[in-house]
Parts: sequence; C-alpha cells; structure tokens
Amino acid sequence: MATFNIKVNGASRKVNVDEDTPMLWVLRDELDLVGTKFGCGIAQCGACTIHLNGTAVRSCQLPVAAVGDGEIKTIEGLSEKAEKAEHAVQQAWLEHDVPQCGYCQAGQIMNAASFLATNPNPSDEQIENAMNGNLCRCGTYTRIKAAIKTAASKMS
Ligand code: FES
Ligand code: FES
Repeated sequence: MATFNIKVNGASRKVNVDEDTPMLWVLRDELDLVGTKFGCGIAQCGACTIHLNGTAVRSCQLPVAAVGDGEIKTIEGLSEKAEKAEHAVQQAWLEHDVPQCGYCQAGQIMNAASFLATNPNPSDEQIENAMNGNLCRCGTYTRIKAAIKTAASKMS
C-alpha cells in the first residue's frame, strides 16, 4: 500500500492503495465516483473511459502510480456541476436520446468529448474511427454518431 495524492475533477484527493491499482477501482471503490463503469477490464470496450490531461484513456489499464500530477476527469466532472449535464456532448446526448440501458454511455461521452476537443469539425469517417473502440451492447451507434455531429456543430 502507498499513499497517492491525485487530482480528480479539479480537487486534490488522497488515496491509500497498492501502486498497481487501476484508476477504475480507485475512482469507484475509494472515491465513490461510480459513473465510470467496468466492462471488460482489458482495454477492449471503452466503458471505463476517463480523461487524463484531456486525453481519453482506459481507466481499467491505468495504474494509479502512473497518474502522477496528471489531471483526471470523470463523467462526474465533465460539467461544472455533476447533476447538470451542461457539456455540449451531454446536451447533444439528451437531444438525441442516445442511451438505451446506459451502461456504456459514460465511456462513450468521455471519449467523444476528448475527441471533439481536438477535432471540432470531424468527418463521418473521423467520428467512426474515434469511437470505434467504444462498444455498445444495445447498438446505439447511429444515435451516438448523430449526437457527436450535433455537439460538433454547437462547439465550432
Ligand atoms: S473496462 Fe476498460 S476498456 Fe473495458
Ligand atoms: S446503451 Fe446499453 S450498452 Fe450501450
């Protein structure tokens, strides 16, 4: 066990865990940030996607010891207030009524938000490539794509 001071959603958080503990479990079990979901545990589904310094990463494969001074953002921190879906991607998700069961959606939104931050005017192909690794058992892919286009039009 070791103590880590990490930055999560703009706040400094102290956790006492083994250094190889994946951030997914630090978030869910230590910090009670359960919006980030466990899917496969082997970086194949995208359900656990969070941001590290603005870049989408798979928290199931990110050891807490690798975070250092990096800024972690989870779905709870995407908008200023966790209870208000103010981010353009969240607004577009609501507009298109994207989720079905919802399980994959936090990961989808975090991946889309990171992607749009650096690709404000994406082509269909770029959207497909960027979202390729985020799986949805319910098959909401068509609505996800439409929502990303709507979000892009509002962000650019
Ligand atoms: S749980 Fe991390 S990619 Fe599937
Ligand atoms: S909405 Fe059910 S897994 Fe994607």
